[in-house]
Amino acid sequence: MDLKPSVLTEDEIKSLLTTIDESLIREAKKTCLTGLEDTVLVRGEPGGSIVYDLNGRRIIDMTSQAWTLNVGYSHPDVVYAAALQSSMLNHVRYGFPTIPRLKLMLKLKEIYGYERVALNTQGGGWAIEVALKLAMINKPGADTFLVAWRSYHGNSLALTAASHPLPGLIRYKGFGEERFIRYPYPYCYRCPFKMKYPECSLDPCLTFVEKTIKYATRGVNSVAAILIEPIQGPGGVVPAPRDYLKELIELGEKYNIFIVFDEAQTANGRVGAWSVAHLYGLKPHMMTLTKGLGGGFPIGATLAKGEFKGLSYPEEHTTFGGNPVPYAAALINLIVIEKLNLVERARIMGEYALKRLNEMKEKFEIIGDVRGYGLYLGLDLVKNRETKEPALEEAEEVVKRALDKGALYALDMPDIMGEEVSMRNVIKIRPPLVIKKEELDEALNILEESLMEISREYDYKFSKA
Ligand SMILES: Cc1ncc(COP(=O)(O)O)c(C=O)c1O
Repeated sequence: MDLKPSVLTEDEIKSLLTTIDESLIREAKKTCLTGLEDTVLVRGEPGGSIVYDLNGRRIIDMTSQAWTLNVGYSHPDVVYAAALQSSMLNHVRYGFPTIPRLKLMLKLKEIYGYERVALNTQGGGWAIEVALKLAMINKPGADTFLVAWRSYHGNSLALTAASHPLPGLIRYKGFGEERFIRYPYPYCYRCPFKMKYPECSLDPCLTFVEKTIKYATRGVNSVAAILIEPIQGPGGVVPAPRDYLKELIELGEKYNIFIVFDEAQTANGRVGAWSVAHLYGLKPHMMTLTKGLGGGFPIGATLAKGEFKGLSYPEEHTTFGGNPVPYAAALINLIVIEKLNLVERARIMGEYALKRLNEMKEKFEIIGDVRGYGLYLGLDLVKNRETKEPALEEAEEVVKRALDKGALYALDMPDIMGEEVSMRNVIKIRPPLVIKKEELDEALNILEESLMEISREYDYKFSKA
């Protein structure tokens, strides 16, 4: 690959992309119509977990930038694939097949075991929209969907309606709210029915879904699909019990309703298995992917069982939907995940992180629950272990302190549903799957120090041992 600019010089391009002065930052921020963080990030360590900001500050990234950089920042093979593909063919109209697009579909079929695949270059929300369209096409006449409390499926106007409502934070309504009927997510730590798993035998949760299908819709024939994140992500790192998901799939079979696993966050090795479906040995009718699939490039995929009728060109085309660059990156990204054994690595490093977090739970009264699989973990901070009241301000402070000390953590999405449990008390632990053991330890030590400071300042019990 002989890449040379022809209009500008290499130095001019480099300078444009790597330098900016304070006044330009201020002006651009004023111009920006969307929300922006304070820190300007400049470069990541190739194939690693470290990112540097404009001032050269080193930060250990425990978020993988929205749980996306499973192979680390700018993985050399992924970047090479994208550069090579760009240098040969950087855009085609939707309908034209390209080699990376064809091979990626087959790779996804091989890994995930679904016979049919739709790719997109928009991401996870678009993948869900495709699943909704496929459900309506394959169950003619059905146009209603069941979605879980505290779910998140995307930010289009339809998916705003499908996701957890955020009145006040979102100043408009999603479109088609009447199409999305809600059911309680099996959140065992804060059971919606105030019961205990496994003694509950999952009966209240599953009965609720069945009754919702029958009585809270225009009838069984109107329900096209049930969407579920098998581990709820933005809702607080909440794993649904395996048997719940198994029985949900059986309910879907019983009523001819498609079950869609939204594995935006949990697939591509993150949970120590290719997906939660793999981890639990289940196969829903459809599965959607994004985030870690592209190695940092924008992509989404909808996977469906072999019997599904597909979409016509007018039903699923976008200007950039055939762009071969993200597909080239994603193909190589998946092969890198395989070659570096990152699925197994996520499992092993995840077990180690979970052990350390559980030790922290022994020490710090503020930690109510530790949960998750692989490198997809959450720390639920509570004011009181009996009432489980979320420790919101404290969680914000822990994350702030950790960033000051050089480790980037994130919280869950905001919830201002009055009395309802807020999601923003769960600290997410989701570093790149390539994170080195010393970096993981360093970041967990920083988390521990921050928990210690906050426990002291807010008067929570803790032991120093
Ligand atoms: C569970 C889940 N589903 C869907 C989406 C939407 O993906 P995107 O933002 O790529 O549209 C997200 C994004 O955060 C997600 O976390």
